[in-house]
This record gives sequence, structure tokens and C-alpha cells, in this order.
Amino acid sequence: MNFSKVASAGVIALAGLAYACGGSSDTNSEEATSTPAAAPAKEMSFDEMYKDNPDYVSGLALVKESDCPSCHMVERKIVGPAYKDVAAKYESTDENIETLAKRVVNGSVGEWGEIPMPAHPGLSEDDAKIMVKYVLMLKK
Ligand code: HEC
Repeated sequence: MNFSKVASAGVIALAGLAYACGGSSDTNSEEATSTPAAAPAKEMSFDEMYKDNPDYVSGLALVKESDCPSCHMVERKIVGPAYKDVAAKYESTDENIETLAKRVVNGSVGEWGEIPMPAHPGLSEDDAKIMVKYVLMLKK
């Protein structure tokens, strides 16, 4: 579905990186109490929704410690797909978690376009599964 964009993917990736510098507050806040939109009935952030969910909390912590945020954001595609788009594409089943964890560890290309995700050889598959579980929770 991203075929028309493949040709300009390099440009998009660069633009995304530029945005990423200033725009990561929604994924990185330690305590998510300070969402910029202060309207009372505004949509809850994922951090608020899942603050008591151990899978979410440990997955988020692992993702933050790793290099994932340099290519992924929750709400917006940068180099890699937005986590919320990944969550929309895959149901959170054991099978999908395992498949995606293997792709994170071994690298992946062709699922979202021609930009590859590098392998993460230092990452255990168990940790990758916790990260993927977190990613697949990012749907409303
Ligand atoms: C250098 C950039 C980069 C880094 C770092 C990176 N990713 Fe990715 N990621 C990508 C790209 C590009 C894709 C799309 C690959 C494809 O089309 O198959 C992707 C795809 C994914 C997918 C979806 C795979 C699929 O089969 O649909 C998941 C889940 C994911 N990344 C999680 C992570 C996690 C977790 C980390 C940190 C450990 C991480 N990524 C680090 C660039 C990156």
C-alpha cells in the first residue's frame, strides 16, 4: 500500500528524522501526566490507559532503552512504521508476537516498504516479545 511512496522514501525518512528531534514528547515522558492537550475529556494517552499494566510498562521500558525510538514513534511514521499502524495491522496473538519478535531480532524488509529494519543481534527473543506485546497494545 505504500508503493507510490517508495520512490521518495529516502526523503520521507529524512523529513521524519528532522521531526523526530522535536516531536518525541508523546512517547518519552516518564510520567505521562503532562499531555500538552489539557482538555478534560480529551483522548487518554496510552501511558495513562495502561499505567498499571505490567506488560505495557516493561515493554515501554525495554523499547526506550533500545534504539527503537530512533526509527519508530507511536503516532507517526518516521523511518519505520508508527507503532499504532503496526498494532492496527496485527492482532495480539501469541503467533503474531513470536513472528514479529523474530523480525525485530533478525531484521525485516518488505513488510512496510523497501527501507529495512536492521537486525538486533544483542536482543533476546524474550525481550523482543515483551517489546512487541507493548507495540501491539497501542490501539484504541
Ligand atoms: C534503523 C531503523 C529501525 C530501528 C532502530 C528499529 N526499527 Fe523497527 N522497523 C524499521 C523499519 C524500516 C521497519 C519496516 C520493515 C519492513 O518493511 O519489513 C520496521 C518494522 C518494525 C515492526 C513491524 C514488523 C512487521 O513485520 O510488520 C516492528 C514490530 C518493529 N519494527 C519494532 C521495532 C523495535 C521493538 C525496535 C527496537 C528494538 C525497532 N523496531 C528498531 C526500522 C527500525
